[in-house]
Amino acid sequence: MFLSRLIYASRATEALSSTDVEQILDASRRNNGRAGVTGILIFSSREFLQCLEGSREAVNQTYARILGDPRHADVQVLDYREVDRRLFPEWGMHALAPAWLTRQRLLRYGERELFAPTRMSAGSALALLEDLARDPEAAATLAPPAAGVAGATTSPAGAILARLRAERPATAR
Ligand SMILES: Cc1cc2nc3c(=O)[nH]c(=O)nc-3n(C[C@H](O)[C@H](O)[C@H](O)COP(=O)(O)O)c2cc1C
Repeated sequence: MFLSRLIYASRATEALSSTDVEQILDASRRNNGRAGVTGILIFSSREFLQCLEGSREAVNQTYARILGDPRHADVQVLDYREVDRRLFPEWGMHALAPAWLTRQRLLRYGERELFAPTRMSAGSALALLEDLARDPEAAATLAPPAAGVAGATTSPAGAILARLRAERPATAR
């Protein structure tokens, strides 16, 4: 099996309600777990950054489904590669405390204090995800999705982070 990682960015097409976000997270939990796809979904300031990891077939099928979703547009692949191991070997749904996307972090990976992944280079997006994957405190600050939705609407640095965690899919390495 070829283990692949795809990172893309997109923009939400209209103000997403917490119900929309919950539906996206529900579909991800349902489908990704079955397909052995893991990763992370960050949403803030109306832009998404998602990392999908799994078998080449599963990652491509998942991305093809996501690409046609009318809830977002301007979908751009930032990076696609074969990898030896996953950055996010588990899947599940959590909201990131807005505090994680600090001004300092945003400026390190982007040109402005705004979370704007559609304007990030592949290198910056990967560096941000690697930073998140190795930051044990990020996991500690993960809150239920509803808290993240509230944070995202009130703060430009607010983020909904969907950490896709599974009971270790058999295919995970
Ligand atoms: C930003 C964004 C990220 C998404 N991520 C996933 C995902 O990781 N897995 C998934 O199955 N669906 C994801 N979806 C939803 C899909 O576009 C699609 O609605 C869903 O897969 C349909 O699933 P169903 O046929 O089981 O209802 C995402 C949608 C959006 C807008």
